[in-house]
Amino acid sequence: MGHPTVLVVDDDDDLRETMCAVLDDAGYATVAMPGGESAIEYLGRADPPDLIILDLMMPGIDGWRVREELRKLPRVADVPIVVATASRALARHPVDAAVILWKPFSARELLDAVARFSPTVSPADPALESAEVSRRALAPRPGEAILEARLDAAAVRRVYRAVAPVYDLWARLTESKARRRCLELARIRDGEAVLEVAVGTGLAFAAILAANPHGRNEGIDLTEEMLARAREKASRSGVASYRLAVGDARQLAYPDDSFDLLLTNYLFDLLPEEDFPAVLAEFRRVLRPGGRFVTANMTRAERWYQAAWETLYRVNPAWLGGCRGIRLQPALESAGFADVRRETVSQLGFPTEILYAVKPAAGV
Ligand SMILES: C[S@@+](CC[C@H](N)C(=O)[O-])C[C@H]1O[C@@H](n2cnc3c(N)ncnc32)[C@H](O)[C@@H]1O
Repeated sequence: MGHPTVLVVDDDDDLRETMCAVLDDAGYATVAMPGGESAIEYLGRADPPDLIILDLMMPGIDGWRVREELRKLPRVADVPIVVATASRALARHPVDAAVILWKPFSARELLDAVARFSPTVSPADPALESAEVSRRALAPRPGEAILEARLDAAAVRRVYRAVAPVYDLWARLTESKARRRCLELARIRDGEAVLEVAVGTGLAFAAILAANPHGRNEGIDLTEEMLARAREKASRSGVASYRLAVGDARQLAYPDDSFDLLLTNYLFDLLPEEDFPAVLAEFRRVLRPGGRFVTANMTRAERWYQAAWETLYRVNPAWLGGCRGIRLQPALESAGFADVRRETVSQLGFPTEILYAVKPAAGV
């Protein structure tokens, strides 16, 4: 039996992530959505979760409307809903929920509410008994800042030349869930112009080709040895409309407004933080107005077992291919991307953040 899945819908990034961290630790699988729009969109296409935790006061589509919309989706109409709120408006505007969880609540209260519908599959950390789930619980702690990138471009090439033969094993063990989710979010329509930056061994590129056999498919990577493996996979796809070339994310050899979709996985987590603005500006330049950007990267550890990955990085960054946990959302927003959405996925304790954003249409 798989782990029970809980969908957490809350526009407060810190609170949402803390709730997911508490539930992940207790053995649930979590999916996080930052608002009503994304939650409804997700529930319209994904397998129904076992439980939904729903905030009420959210900009755009609020929790009350989400509840109404879910009633119209037969597949999810019966999924129990735990409303998590501080709203005093509940007396005037009641909502149909299995449980009301009043904010602020403790980790224990959260787990008890969820366990009424989906029993946990592993014991919760006893330290959670008294932990309050709140912004305060996530106040920046010393050492939480993004670690420094420790591989320069030459070292990146050297490391990936060496790991190319075994890369797919690592990538499948710790990153396959996130890669799949990126492709779902990308919603490729056949005939589009798609660029993947840092294609690596072509794990996502093969799926891009399958979804876009009649479109334009471009992939670049800094390391020829990684690209060689991507070429092998692409040549087995039976699709002819692709080009794979050595290239650097910092300077893309494409005109402005060239692509409908730009995808890049596990690239930013090995770039220096000071390079994020320039690389994002370059991505924005080559996307057409309205074009989509999807990216997955290792994110900052929130749980002790995730921190173990960063400990490895501190000892020898090459063991993690130069990747350390980052948070890209603020840089994306500063770079002028719109409709930015963030989700997190954890696989073998390896924490990944997935970001979806759009280049605003001309004139916006
Ligand atoms: C962790 S791997 C990710 C590969 C692939 N995206 C995946 O998800 O499997 C990082 C890749 O980024 C490439 N890379 C690193 N810096 C780059 C840059 N500045 N421009 C393009 N590719 C880069 C490396 O050569 C390597 O293949």
